[in-house]
Amino acid sequence: MSIQAVRGMKDVWPEEARKWQRVEALARQVFHAFGFGEIKTPVLEKTELFARSIGEATDIVEKEMYTFADRSGDSLTMRPEATAGLVRAYIESKNYAQPGPHKLFLIGPMFRHERPQKGRLRQFHQIDVEVLGDEEPQGDAEIILMLDQFLKKLGLGKVIIKLNSLGCPACRPGYRQALLDFLGSRRGRLCEDCRRRLDTNPLRVLDCKAESCQEAAQGAPNMADHLCEACQSHFAKVRQLIGAAGVDYELDPRLVRGLDYYIRTTFEAVAGDLGAQNAVAGGGRYDGLIEALGGPAQGGIGFAFGLERLSLLLPDEETPLAPELYIAALGEEARDWSFSAAAQLRGQGVWVELSPQDKSLKAQLRRANKLNAAQVLIIGPEEIKAGRGQLKDMAGGGQEEIPLDQVAARFAPPSP
Ligand code: HAM
Repeated sequence: MSIQAVRGMKDVWPEEARKWQRVEALARQVFHAFGFGEIKTPVLEKTELFARSIGEATDIVEKEMYTFADRSGDSLTMRPEATAGLVRAYIESKNYAQPGPHKLFLIGPMFRHERPQKGRLRQFHQIDVEVLGDEEPQGDAEIILMLDQFLKKLGLGKVIIKLNSLGCPACRPGYRQALLDFLGSRRGRLCEDCRRRLDTNPLRVLDCKAESCQEAAQGAPNMADHLCEACQSHFAKVRQLIGAAGVDYELDPRLVRGLDYYIRTTFEAVAGDLGAQNAVAGGGRYDGLIEALGGPAQGGIGFAFGLERLSLLLPDEETPLAPELYIAALGEEARDWSFSAAAQLRGQGVWVELSPQDKSLKAQLRRANKLNAAQVLIIGPEEIKAGRGQLKDMAGGGQEEIPLDQVAARFAPPSP
């Protein structure tokens, strides 16, 4: 039997890759204007990094990581997200000693052993953005504004930014207790996962998708009513700034996110058309993480979106990928000429295709047609002798004679 790809991991073919290229090009353009630089960090990190940042009791660390011992016996993990590795790099490089904020983005594959479905893969790709060394609410507003601008420029359908504040170590424990008091009497109505979450992370019950849990959590206390003064004014400033900047957002007291490092502002961009996996992007503030990983007490905020999920919302590219010229050459002399003409044209950036074998004219035209070539240059022994070929326009059907020494100039892209 032939070997198949690993479950939940998929190949990205050129048509799909073109969508990604468009998304990546736009991201680079938008992020550039906000002063972000691109970073690459390794796919493999020490397992401990994710346990200490994402949190031991999260779904990701508990049951979704690709973890293995390497040949030296070290426990390594294929990164399930980018934030932890990026913060690790920031601390290791001591870049925190330079004046901040430090604005970085990363594009690359992530790995989570989740149950595969539409929009959910085991290898997926994120564009991840982080601002390190900043605690001010302007930082939150700026990054949410950047996400909003990017999604609007991409021309997606309806996307809403959901926003919440998760409080800080000063006020969250009080809220956690109030929530536990409320959910404690409803324990029996919760799903098995949520019953366990009551002990580890009761906030996660709020965004459990199980109907029984959603019902049980109806009327639960809101974090917003438990925020300390500092968190309240931080959140109010964020809302004021993004509101003034025209960001469409919605407060969502149920938005708690699945990673433990978040405090204060958290957000998700949600698309109407994606069904269950409707979060295109998610992020938030994580003051305390840099310190917890051995760095200074600096704040950070960021978000990430999944390229696969975003691409589900994008239409296919309108212009199909097709060669600009197909050279249908008959006989060895014409084929040799076509080989060097193609080399020259390709050097000019023109997409040229040749027949791989010495086939009949009919067969070559059929292939040119199949490839959707815009034009076909037909040459045989007579044309080589006369120094002239037939140039056929495949869409319009017209045909003209062209001196062979003018072919390169005809297809040369206009000089800038
Ligand atoms: P996250 O919400 O776990 O956050 O993932 C962010 C995005 O990655 C999701 O909104 C989704 O588009 C995509 N994604 C996640 N899991 C999958 C999957 N299994 N298949 C396909 N796409 C997926 C984080 O990863 C945080 N590190 C974001 C962040 C950056 N927070 C602060 N800075």
